Amino acid sequence: MDTFDTYHVFLITSILHFGCSTPLSIKDNLVPTVFRSEQVIFSSSYNITRLLVPSDGSTYFLDDVSDLPSVFFTINDSRLDGGSCIYVLEDLAAYEILEGGRDSTSDYSEDKSVYFGGKDGVYKYDSESLSAKKFGRFHDDIIQIQKANGSDVIFFLTSNNKLFKLEQNGTIRTKIEAVTCALEFVLDTSNNIYFIACVDGLPRIIKTDGNLVTYISSITEDIQEIHLLRPAFIMVECVPFFGDGNLYVLYVNGTSERKDFYLNRRISAYSIDAALYLVAALDGKIYEYNVMEAMLKSMFGFTSNWSTDLSKIVMSIIETTKDSIYKDWNSVFDH
Ligand SMILES: *[C@@H]1O[C@H](CO)[C@@H](O)[C@H](O)[C@H]1NC(C)=O
Ligand SMILES: *[C@@H]1O[C@H](CO)[C@@H](O)[C@H](O)[C@H]1NC(C)=O
Ligand SMILES: *[C@@H]1O[C@H](CO)[C@@H](O)[C@H](O)[C@H]1NC(C)=O
Ligand SMILES: *[C@@H]1O[C@H](CO)[C@@H](O)[C@H](O)[C@H]1NC(C)=O
Ligand SMILES: *[C@@H]1O[C@H](CO)[C@@H](O)[C@H](O)[C@H]1NC(C)=O
Ligand SMILES: *[C@@H]1O[C@H](CO)[C@@H](O)[C@H](O)[C@H]1NC(C)=O
Repeated sequence: MDTFDTYHVFLITSILHFGCSTPLSIKDNLVPTVFRSEQVIFSSSYNITRLLVPSDGSTYFLDDVSDLPSVFFTINDSRLDGGSCIYVLEDLAAYEILEGGRDSTSDYSEDKSVYFGGKDGVYKYDSESLSAKKFGRFHDDIIQIQKANGSDVIFFLTSNNKLFKLEQNGTIRTKIEAVTCALEFVLDTSNNIYFIACVDGLPRIIKTDGNLVTYISSITEDIQEIHLLRPAFIMVECVPFFGDGNLYVLYVNGTSERKDFYLNRRISAYSIDAALYLVAALDGKIYEYNVMEAMLKSMFGFTSNWSTDLSKIVMSIIETTKDSIYKDWNSVFDH
Protein backbone atom coordinates (compact mmCIF):
# COMPACT_ATOMS: atom_id res chain seq x y z
CA MET A 1 0.00 0.00 0.00
CA ASP A 2 1.63 3.24 -1.04
CA THR A 3 1.50 6.63 0.55
CA PHE A 4 -1.28 7.69 -1.68
CA ASP A 5 -3.49 4.84 -0.56
CA THR A 6 -2.87 5.90 2.98
CA TYR A 7 -3.95 9.41 2.18
CA HIS A 8 -6.84 8.03 0.27
CA VAL A 9 -8.07 6.15 3.28
CA PHE A 10 -7.75 9.15 5.47
CA LEU A 11 -9.30 11.43 2.92
CA ILE A 12 -12.25 9.16 2.47
CA THR A 13 -12.76 8.56 6.13
CA SER A 14 -12.20 12.12 7.14
CA ILE A 15 -13.90 14.12 4.47
CA LEU A 16 -15.80 12.23 1.85
CA HIS A 17 -17.12 9.84 4.39
CA PHE A 18 -18.39 12.70 6.49
CA GLY A 19 -20.01 14.35 3.55
CA CYS A 20 -23.48 14.60 4.81
CA SER A 21 -25.51 12.53 2.39
CA THR A 22 -24.28 9.60 0.36
CA PRO A 23 -22.70 6.62 2.09
CA LEU A 24 -19.50 5.16 0.77
CA SER A 25 -18.00 1.83 1.46
CA ILE A 26 -14.41 1.42 2.44
CA LYS A 27 -12.39 -1.72 2.76
CA ASP A 28 -11.68 -2.47 6.39
CA ASN A 29 -8.30 -3.99 5.70
CA LEU A 30 -6.93 -0.62 4.61
CA VAL A 31 -7.41 0.95 7.99
CA PRO A 32 -4.56 -0.36 10.16
CA THR A 33 -1.92 1.26 7.98
CA VAL A 34 -3.29 4.76 8.37
CA PHE A 35 -0.71 5.59 11.02
CA ARG A 36 2.71 5.43 9.43
CA SER A 37 6.00 6.72 10.69
CA GLU A 38 6.56 8.92 7.58
CA GLN A 39 3.55 10.92 8.62
CA VAL A 40 4.80 11.77 12.09
CA ILE A 41 5.49 15.50 12.43
CA PHE A 42 5.86 15.61 16.19
CA SER A 43 6.68 13.05 18.82
CA SER A 44 6.53 13.26 22.61
CA SER A 45 5.97 11.19 25.71
CA TYR A 46 2.85 13.13 26.65
CA ASN A 47 -0.79 12.63 25.92
CA ILE A 48 -1.91 15.02 23.23
CA THR A 49 -5.47 15.96 24.07
CA ARG A 50 -6.33 18.62 21.47
CA LEU A 51 -5.25 19.55 17.94
CA LEU A 52 -6.06 22.46 15.66
CA VAL A 53 -5.05 23.29 12.11
CA PRO A 54 -6.82 26.59 11.46
CA SER A 55 -9.00 26.52 8.35
CA ASP A 56 -8.89 29.54 6.10
CA GLY A 57 -12.47 29.21 4.93
CA SER A 58 -12.00 27.55 1.58
CA THR A 59 -9.17 25.11 1.95
CA TYR A 60 -5.73 24.90 3.36
CA PHE A 61 -3.72 26.18 0.52
CA LEU A 62 0.00 25.85 0.54
CA ASP A 63 1.96 27.57 -2.18
CA ASP A 64 4.79 25.19 -1.71
CA VAL A 65 4.34 21.59 -0.75
CA SER A 66 7.16 21.90 1.76
CA ASP A 67 5.30 24.63 3.68
CA LEU A 68 3.53 23.27 6.70
CA PRO A 69 0.62 25.07 8.30
CA SER A 70 0.74 25.99 11.98
CA VAL A 71 -0.50 23.16 14.15
CA PHE A 72 -1.71 23.97 17.67
CA PHE A 73 -1.77 21.16 20.21
CA THR A 74 -2.35 20.59 23.92
CA ILE A 75 -0.46 18.15 26.07
CA ASN A 76 -1.60 16.71 29.39
CA ASP A 77 0.96 16.72 32.17
CA SER A 78 -0.15 16.68 35.78
CA ARG A 79 3.12 18.34 36.85
CA LEU A 80 2.20 21.51 34.97
CA ASP A 81 0.17 24.35 36.44
CA GLY A 82 -3.39 23.63 35.28
CA GLY A 83 -2.36 20.12 34.16
CA SER A 84 -1.75 21.05 30.53
CA CYS A 85 0.07 23.28 28.06
CA ILE A 86 -0.61 24.56 24.54
CA TYR A 87 2.15 24.52 21.93
CA VAL A 88 2.34 25.60 18.32
CA LEU A 89 4.26 23.58 15.75
CA GLU A 90 5.92 25.83 13.18
CA ASP A 91 8.15 24.19 10.58
CA LEU A 92 8.44 21.10 12.77
CA ALA A 93 9.62 23.08 15.80
CA ALA A 94 7.34 23.23 18.83
CA TYR A 95 6.99 26.49 20.79
CA GLU A 96 5.31 26.73 24.15
CA ILE A 97 2.39 29.17 24.02
CA LEU A 98 0.26 28.84 27.14
CA GLU A 99 0.82 26.86 30.30
CA GLY A 100 -2.57 25.89 31.73
CA GLY A 101 -4.05 26.14 28.22
CA ARG A 102 -6.52 23.39 27.39
CA ASP A 103 -7.90 23.94 23.89
CA SER A 104 -7.42 26.05 20.73
CA THR A 105 -9.98 27.32 18.24
CA SER A 106 -10.41 29.36 15.08
CA ASP A 107 -13.36 29.70 12.75
CA TYR A 108 -13.85 28.75 9.09
CA SER A 109 -13.60 32.30 7.75
CA GLU A 110 -10.64 34.26 6.48
CA ASP A 111 -10.14 35.66 9.96
CA LYS A 112 -6.91 33.98 11.04
CA SER A 113 -7.40 34.66 14.75
CA VAL A 114 -6.73 31.75 17.06
CA TYR A 115 -8.15 31.69 20.60
CA PHE A 116 -7.25 29.51 23.54
CA GLY A 117 -9.24 28.36 26.56
CA GLY A 118 -7.21 27.83 29.70
CA LYS A 119 -7.46 27.37 33.43
CA ASP A 120 -8.16 31.09 33.89
CA GLY A 121 -10.10 32.24 30.87
CA VAL A 122 -9.76 32.98 27.17
CA TYR A 123 -6.57 34.04 25.40
CA LYS A 124 -5.84 35.24 21.89
CA TYR A 125 -2.82 34.13 19.87
CA ASP A 126 -0.21 36.66 18.88
CA SER A 127 1.71 35.09 16.01
CA GLU A 128 4.41 37.78 15.97
CA SER A 129 5.59 36.97 19.47
CA LEU A 130 4.42 33.32 19.45
CA SER A 131 2.49 34.00 22.63
CA ALA A 132 -1.00 34.19 24.11
CA LYS A 133 -2.57 37.43 25.32
CA LYS A 134 -5.50 37.49 27.75
CA PHE A 135 -8.79 38.08 25.95
CA GLY A 136 -11.73 39.51 27.85
CA ARG A 137 -12.14 39.96 31.57
CA PHE A 138 -13.42 36.55 32.68
CA HIS A 139 -11.35 33.88 34.40
CA ASP A 140 -13.29 30.67 33.94
CA ASP A 141 -11.61 27.28 34.23
CA ILE A 142 -12.08 26.24 30.60
CA ILE A 143 -11.74 22.72 29.22
CA GLN A 144 -13.01 23.25 25.67
CA ILE A 145 -13.46 26.26 23.38
CA GLN A 146 -15.03 26.83 19.94
CA LYS A 147 -15.15 30.01 17.87
CA ALA A 148 -18.44 30.54 16.01
CA ASN A 149 -17.98 31.00 12.28
CA GLY A 150 -18.35 34.46 10.85
CA SER A 151 -19.14 36.24 14.14
CA ASP A 152 -17.28 37.38 17.24
CA VAL A 153 -18.99 34.78 19.42
CA ILE A 154 -16.89 32.22 21.28
CA PHE A 155 -18.37 29.29 23.18
CA PHE A 156 -16.55 27.53 25.99
CA LEU A 157 -17.15 24.64 28.36
CA THR A 158 -15.93 24.95 31.94
CA SER A 159 -14.50 22.27 34.22
CA ASN A 160 -17.85 22.12 36.02
CA ASN A 161 -19.53 21.20 32.69
CA LYS A 162 -21.33 24.50 32.05
CA LEU A 163 -21.44 26.04 28.59
CA PHE A 164 -20.98 29.79 28.11
CA LYS A 165 -21.12 32.21 25.23
CA LEU A 166 -18.64 35.07 25.10
CA GLU A 167 -19.39 38.11 22.91
CA GLN A 168 -18.41 41.65 22.05
CA ASN A 169 -14.68 41.38 22.34
CA GLY A 170 -14.86 39.14 25.38
CA THR A 171 -16.81 41.64 27.46
CA ILE A 172 -20.16 39.82 27.69
CA ARG A 173 -20.57 36.30 28.99
CA THR A 174 -23.88 34.41 28.99
CA LYS A 175 -24.59 30.95 30.35
CA ILE A 176 -26.37 28.63 27.92
CA GLU A 177 -29.19 27.51 30.19
CA ALA A 178 -30.38 24.73 27.89
CA VAL A 179 -27.13 22.89 28.60
CA THR A 180 -27.37 21.75 32.20
CA CYS A 181 -24.30 19.56 32.08
CA ALA A 182 -22.08 18.78 29.07
CA LEU A 183 -19.07 16.50 28.77
CA GLU A 184 -17.95 17.97 25.44
CA PHE A 185 -19.34 20.04 22.57
CA VAL A 186 -18.64 21.19 19.00
CA LEU A 187 -20.20 23.66 16.59
CA ASP A 188 -21.08 22.76 13.02
CA THR A 189 -20.29 25.13 10.16
CA SER A 190 -23.64 26.92 10.69
CA ASN A 191 -22.96 27.36 14.44
CA ASN A 192 -25.49 24.83 15.70
CA ILE A 193 -24.22 23.42 19.01
CA TYR A 194 -23.80 19.65 19.47
CA PHE A 195 -23.01 18.45 22.99
CA ILE A 196 -22.80 15.26 25.01
CA ALA A 197 -25.14 15.36 28.00
CA CYS A 198 -23.66 14.20 31.32
CA VAL A 199 -26.87 12.45 32.27
CA ASP A 200 -26.77 9.75 29.59
CA GLY A 201 -23.62 10.35 27.55
CA LEU A 202 -25.70 10.92 24.42
CA PRO A 203 -25.67 13.89 22.05
CA ARG A 204 -28.11 16.81 22.10
CA ILE A 205 -28.27 19.68 19.67
CA ILE A 206 -29.10 23.31 20.21
CA LYS A 207 -29.97 24.89 16.92
CA THR A 208 -29.07 28.49 16.17
CA ASP A 209 -32.74 29.41 16.75
CA GLY A 210 -32.38 28.11 20.32
CA ASN A 211 -34.41 24.92 19.85
CA LEU A 212 -33.14 21.85 21.62
CA VAL A 213 -33.08 18.64 19.59
CA THR A 214 -32.60 15.28 21.27
CA TYR A 215 -30.67 12.44 19.76
CA ILE A 216 -32.87 9.90 18.03
CA SER A 217 -31.07 6.72 18.85
CA SER A 218 -31.47 3.70 16.73
CA ILE A 219 -32.87 0.72 18.63
CA THR A 220 -30.13 -1.52 17.34
CA GLU A 221 -27.30 0.58 18.71
CA ASP A 222 -26.05 0.76 22.26
CA ILE A 223 -23.11 3.14 22.18
CA GLN A 224 -21.06 3.38 25.35
CA GLU A 225 -18.72 6.23 24.57
CA ILE A 226 -19.11 9.10 22.12
CA HIS A 227 -16.54 11.65 20.95
CA LEU A 228 -17.64 14.53 18.76
CA LEU A 229 -15.37 15.93 16.03
CA ARG A 230 -15.41 19.48 14.78
CA PRO A 231 -16.45 19.14 11.12
CA ALA A 232 -14.40 20.02 8.06
CA PHE A 233 -15.47 23.22 6.35
CA ILE A 234 -17.29 21.36 3.56
CA MET A 235 -19.75 19.62 5.90
CA VAL A 236 -23.12 21.29 6.24
CA GLU A 237 -25.45 20.93 9.25
CA CYS A 238 -23.84 17.80 10.60
CA VAL A 239 -20.87 16.71 12.67
CA PRO A 240 -18.92 13.46 12.67
CA PHE A 241 -18.49 11.44 15.86
CA PHE A 242 -16.86 8.27 17.02
CA GLY A 243 -19.10 5.94 19.01
CA ASP A 244 -17.07 3.07 20.51
CA GLY A 245 -14.62 3.42 17.62
CA ASN A 246 -17.25 3.42 14.87
CA LEU A 247 -17.67 6.49 12.76
CA TYR A 248 -21.06 8.19 12.56
CA VAL A 249 -22.47 11.39 11.19
CA LEU A 250 -24.90 13.26 13.41
CA TYR A 251 -27.34 15.51 11.58
CA VAL A 252 -28.84 18.67 12.97
CA ASN A 253 -32.28 16.98 13.05
CA GLY A 254 -30.99 14.55 15.68
CA THR A 255 -30.66 11.48 13.49
CA SER A 256 -27.35 9.79 12.90
CA GLU A 257 -25.93 7.51 10.33
CA ARG A 258 -23.31 4.86 10.91
CA LYS A 259 -20.50 4.86 8.37
CA ASP A 260 -18.56 1.84 7.30
CA PHE A 261 -15.42 2.74 9.22
CA TYR A 262 -14.00 1.49 12.50
CA LEU A 263 -10.83 2.55 14.31
CA ASN A 264 -9.46 0.13 16.83
CA ARG A 265 -6.77 2.56 17.93
CA ARG A 266 -7.82 5.21 20.37
CA ILE A 267 -6.96 8.51 18.77
CA SER A 268 -6.49 11.18 21.40
CA ALA A 269 -7.07 14.24 19.19
CA TYR A 270 -7.99 15.25 15.66
CA SER A 271 -8.28 18.31 13.49
CA ILE A 272 -10.08 17.96 10.18
CA ASP A 273 -11.19 21.61 10.06
CA ALA A 274 -8.96 22.43 7.13
CA ALA A 275 -10.20 19.41 5.16
CA LEU A 276 -7.13 19.14 2.96
CA TYR A 277 -4.51 19.14 5.66
CA LEU A 278 -5.48 16.81 8.47
CA VAL A 279 -3.78 15.87 11.69
CA ALA A 280 -4.40 13.15 14.26
CA ALA A 281 -2.66 12.32 17.54
CA LEU A 282 -1.96 8.86 18.85
CA ASP A 283 0.39 7.79 21.65
CA GLY A 284 2.00 11.22 21.96
CA LYS A 285 2.68 11.53 18.22
CA ILE A 286 1.07 13.87 15.70
CA TYR A 287 0.45 12.46 12.22
CA GLU A 288 -0.19 14.67 9.19
CA TYR A 289 -2.23 13.91 6.05
CA ASN A 290 -1.64 16.29 3.21
CA VAL A 291 -4.66 15.49 1.10
CA MET A 292 -4.00 18.15 -1.52
CA GLU A 293 -0.58 16.73 -2.21
CA ALA A 294 -2.03 13.25 -2.55
CA MET A 295 -4.77 14.38 -4.88
CA LEU A 296 -2.41 16.20 -7.18
CA LYS A 297 -0.08 13.25 -7.22
CA SER A 298 -2.95 10.98 -8.10
CA MET A 299 -4.37 13.15 -10.83
CA PHE A 300 -1.25 14.57 -12.40
CA GLY A 301 1.53 12.28 -11.31
CA PHE A 302 3.56 14.79 -9.33
CA THR A 303 3.24 16.59 -6.06
CA SER A 304 5.64 19.49 -5.95
CA ASN A 305 5.90 22.50 -8.14
CA TRP A 306 2.30 22.53 -9.26
CA SER A 307 0.89 25.70 -10.64
CA THR A 308 -1.84 27.72 -9.06
CA ASP A 309 -4.05 26.66 -11.92
CA LEU A 310 -3.84 23.05 -10.94
CA SER A 311 -4.70 23.91 -7.38
CA LYS A 312 -7.69 25.85 -8.64
CA ILE A 313 -8.82 22.87 -10.65
CA VAL A 314 -8.70 20.70 -7.59
CA MET A 315 -10.65 23.24 -5.58
CA SER A 316 -13.27 23.59 -8.26
CA ILE A 317 -13.72 19.84 -8.29
CA ILE A 318 -14.33 19.96 -4.58
CA GLU A 319 -16.72 22.87 -4.89
CA THR A 320 -18.78 21.41 -7.69
CA THR A 321 -18.94 17.90 -6.34
CA LYS A 322 -19.64 18.55 -2.68
CA ASP A 323 -22.95 16.73 -2.96
CA SER A 324 -22.12 14.05 -5.47
CA ILE A 325 -18.53 13.88 -4.36
CA TYR A 326 -18.26 10.13 -3.98
CA LYS A 327 -19.32 9.23 -7.44
CA ASP A 328 -16.90 11.62 -9.07
CA TRP A 329 -13.98 11.06 -6.78
CA ASN A 330 -14.25 7.32 -6.85
CA SER A 331 -13.23 7.40 -10.47
CA VAL A 332 -10.28 9.57 -9.54
CA PHE A 333 -9.14 7.22 -6.83
CA ASP A 334 -9.87 3.91 -8.46
CA HIS A 335 -7.18 4.49 -10.99
C1 LIG B 1 -1.99 9.14 28.97
O1 LIG B 1 -3.35 8.82 29.22
C2 LIG B 1 -3.54 7.48 29.60
C3 LIG B 1 -5.03 7.25 29.75
O2 LIG B 1 -5.77 8.37 29.46
C4 LIG B 1 -2.82 7.21 30.91
O3 LIG B 1 -2.99 5.86 31.27
C5 LIG B 1 -1.34 7.52 30.73
O4 LIG B 1 -0.68 7.39 31.98
C6 LIG B 1 -1.14 8.93 30.23
N1 LIG B 1 0.26 9.13 29.93
C7 LIG B 1 0.93 10.22 30.32
C8 LIG B 1 2.37 10.28 29.90
O5 LIG B 1 0.40 11.12 30.94
C1 LIG C 1 -5.90 15.13 31.02
O1 LIG C 1 -5.79 15.49 32.38
C2 LIG C 1 -7.02 15.70 33.01
C3 LIG C 1 -6.73 16.10 34.44
O2 LIG C 1 -5.51 16.74 34.57
C4 LIG C 1 -7.85 14.45 32.96
O3 LIG C 1 -9.12 14.73 33.50
C5 LIG C 1 -8.02 14.02 31.54
O4 LIG C 1 -8.70 12.78 31.49
C6 LIG C 1 -6.69 13.84 30.88
N1 LIG C 1 -6.87 13.47 29.49
C7 LIG C 1 -6.16 12.55 28.89
C8 LIG C 1 -6.52 12.26 27.49
O5 LIG C 1 -5.25 11.97 29.43
C1 LIG D 1 -17.82 31.15 7.66
O1 LIG D 1 -18.11 32.54 7.74
C2 LIG D 1 -17.67 33.25 6.61
C3 LIG D 1 -17.89 34.72 6.87
O2 LIG D 1 -19.20 34.96 7.31
C4 LIG D 1 -18.44 32.76 5.38
O3 LIG D 1 -18.00 33.47 4.23
C5 LIG D 1 -18.18 31.27 5.21
O4 LIG D 1 -18.95 30.77 4.15
C6 LIG D 1 -18.50 30.51 6.47
N1 LIG D 1 -18.01 29.16 6.33
C7 LIG D 1 -18.79 28.09 6.40
C8 LIG D 1 -18.12 26.79 6.23
O5 LIG D 1 -19.98 28.17 6.60
C1 LIG E 1 -11.35 44.81 21.43
O1 LIG E 1 -10.34 44.88 22.44
C2 LIG E 1 -9.07 45.28 21.97
C3 LIG E 1 -8.08 45.17 23.13
O2 LIG E 1 -8.63 45.64 24.34
C4 LIG E 1 -9.16 46.69 21.42
O3 LIG E 1 -7.92 47.08 20.90
C5 LIG E 1 -10.21 46.68 20.28
O4 LIG E 1 -10.38 48.00 19.80
C6 LIG E 1 -11.53 46.15 20.79
N1 LIG E 1 -12.45 46.03 19.64
C7 LIG E 1 -13.74 46.31 19.71
C8 LIG E 1 -14.53 46.13 18.47
O5 LIG E 1 -14.27 46.72 20.74
C1 LIG F 1 -32.49 14.11 9.04
O1 LIG F 1 -31.57 14.71 8.15
C2 LIG F 1 -30.92 13.79 7.26
C3 LIG F 1 -29.88 14.56 6.48
O2 LIG F 1 -30.40 15.74 5.97
C4 LIG F 1 -31.98 13.13 6.38
O3 LIG F 1 -31.34 12.21 5.53
C5 LIG F 1 -32.99 12.43 7.27
O4 LIG F 1 -34.01 11.88 6.47
C6 LIG F 1 -33.59 13.38 8.28
N1 LIG F 1 -34.44 12.61 9.18
C7 LIG F 1 -35.59 13.07 9.65
C8 LIG F 1 -36.32 12.17 10.56
O5 LIG F 1 -36.01 14.18 9.35
C1 LIG G 1 10.14 23.75 -10.33
O1 LIG G 1 10.06 24.09 -11.70
C2 LIG G 1 11.11 24.89 -12.17
C3 LIG G 1 10.87 25.24 -13.62
O2 LIG G 1 9.58 24.97 -14.01
C4 LIG G 1 12.45 24.15 -12.02
O3 LIG G 1 13.51 24.97 -12.41
C5 LIG G 1 12.63 23.77 -10.56
O4 LIG G 1 13.79 23.00 -10.43
C6 LIG G 1 11.42 22.98 -10.06
N1 LIG G 1 11.57 22.72 -8.65
C7 LIG G 1 11.37 21.52 -8.14
C8 LIG G 1 11.53 21.40 -6.65
O5 LIG G 1 11.07 20.54 -8.81
